[in-house]
Amino acid sequence: MARIESRSPDFKLRLMDRWPVYYWRRYPHFLKANDWSFSRVNALPLPAVQQALELGYLRWPKALAPWCQGKDVVDVGCGMGLHGLGFLLEGARSYTGVDPLIKPKSGVLKSLHSGKRLDCGWTPEMLMERIDRFRMIRGISNELEGRRLFDVATLHNATEHLTDLAGVFASVARLLRPGGRLIFSHHNWFSWNGHHQEPKTIGRLDLTNPVQQRFADWAHLDGTHPPDHYVMTKLNRLRLEEVRAITGQYFEIELERTTPSTPNQGAGRLTGAIHARHPELTAADFTTQSLFCVARLKT
Ligand SMILES: C[S@@+](CC[C@H](N)C(=O)[O-])C[C@H]1O[C@@H](n2cnc3c(N)ncnc32)[C@H](O)[C@@H]1O
Repeated sequence: MARIESRSPDFKLRLMDRWPVYYWRRYPHFLKANDWSFSRVNALPLPAVQQALELGYLRWPKALAPWCQGKDVVDVGCGMGLHGLGFLLEGARSYTGVDPLIKPKSGVLKSLHSGKRLDCGWTPEMLMERIDRFRMIRGISNELEGRRLFDVATLHNATEHLTDLAGVFASVARLLRPGGRLIFSHHNWFSWNGHHQEPKTIGRLDLTNPVQQRFADWAHLDGTHPPDHYVMTKLNRLRLEEVRAITGQYFEIELERTTPSTPNQGAGRLTGAIHARHPELTAADFTTQSLFCVARLKT
């Protein structure tokens, strides 16, 4: 363990993700390696924490820990996931998830590792019964308005799905206390797999498949899609500059980080011919996978 603890937190997270049971069996070391106090872990149902770990739901809260400790966190577009357990483990004072798709009596969610849907056995109702300061509310952010109850609003891979991003950010601004922060990670529509369709990875690329041909290697930027297609109704297709500009209407951006696509996410596939079809885009527009942003509420 001493050898592992001397590595970076990200290295530890990768090990945890691969061998969660190995870590769980070494409980005290596991707590120490993750800077989790015994009382925080003990306040949560341990099997649910283990599920959250195995399904990849502790990574995002770990990355946001410096901004969330001691804070009231609202997770807009939380889905049916278990991120809330991670925020409480990292020391958030409270967690409130809000999403129109929450099903109070269902434990079905998506593994963030495999993308597969499965029943984790923990429904929002069960978690709310057992955990203080944990809420999952079926609805949209506007429905929480009325009192400034939160210090941090987080959106994990939700911003690219919001058809009215400006409206949601305006409502988030009204939920936050003075000095509150908005933190989001945005999947770039103009990246190789920004369409959220197959092929999502190079490993799944099949250029003989006629359905994939409409999306693969940036074909999603060429064609027109029927108005009722997923990419038209569930993705806002914003340029990163537009996301930054909308954020800037209500927040001062304190930190932003763009992450390039990995080889499995299409890095290296951009050719001069593809770029020439979209002269309005820069090379970075094609090769940026995501934008991470921390922004402070304007006074
Ligand atoms: C791709 S999911 C992300 C789920 C979760 N954050 C995660 O990382 O697993 C995007 C979510 O945004 C939700 N959503 C869309 N519009 C919303 C709104 N106005 N307010 C709250 N959530 C919204 C959708 O219902 C969907 O569950």
